[in-house]
Amino acid sequence: MARENLSGQYASDTATIRALYDDWAPAYDGEIEGYGYEAPAVAAQRMAGLADPSNDRLLDVGCGTGLVGKALGDLGWRHVEGADVSEASLRIASTAQTYRAVHTADFNAPPTPFDSGSLVCVGVMTYLADVEEVCREFARIVAPGSPILLTQRTDLFEARETQAAFDALAADGTWDILDISDPMPYLPGHEEYQGIDVHYCVFRSR
Ligand SMILES: C[S@@+](CC[C@H](N)C(=O)[O-])C[C@H]1O[C@@H](n2cnc3c(N)ncnc32)[C@H](O)[C@@H]1O
Repeated sequence: MARENLSGQYASDTATIRALYDDWAPAYDGEIEGYGYEAPAVAAQRMAGLADPSNDRLLDVGCGTGLVGKALGDLGWRHVEGADVSEASLRIASTAQTYRAVHTADFNAPPTPFDSGSLVCVGVMTYLADVEEVCREFARIVAPGSPILLTQRTDLFEARETQAAFDALAADGTWDILDISDPMPYLPGHEEYQGIDVHYCVFRSR
């Protein structure tokens, strides 16, 4: 049976989300694969060609157990660090040895202590309610001219006026919007996610 009340926890506080993912960590990889989750591989593919995997540093925000890092590693990324609020998830990510380092961090409480080359954030914006604040933090973290890729659920893209937040950063010269994908499958094998897809959103910092 699918994990219950997963789709509706986007409005919970960070401590509740940390507890959810600490509890889920040992079973996460197997369960989410069973729901048809392909976002880590899709995101890694979309980063290809935007930066130099063998030389550029990349921060994986909300890395969880490390699925995105593994997908990036498969495509030749060598300087990946991860950050997440769930220490149980980070312990698993670190044993996979795909990250140079992993860090405990809450992206609902910027500023964070990071600087990086590129940045990816896959499956995490669900829990980061202030889209403009988070995007400004991402743009601050990366080097000028570097790519940022994030995913946003289609329902939350609308509810959080995500396009307006993206446009605000473009208007004041913080970044250029490279691509907002059409809706793509997110967790097609989970009954709560019927009708909820995902946008892959790519930017380049100025
Ligand atoms: C759906 S999982 C995605 C994990 C990984 N990116 C993947 O694609 O498998 C969401 C992750 O976001 C993390 N997260 C939630 N709120 C966060 C916050 N405020 N700061 C940092 N990470 C957070 C959770 O701990 C969890 O690991």
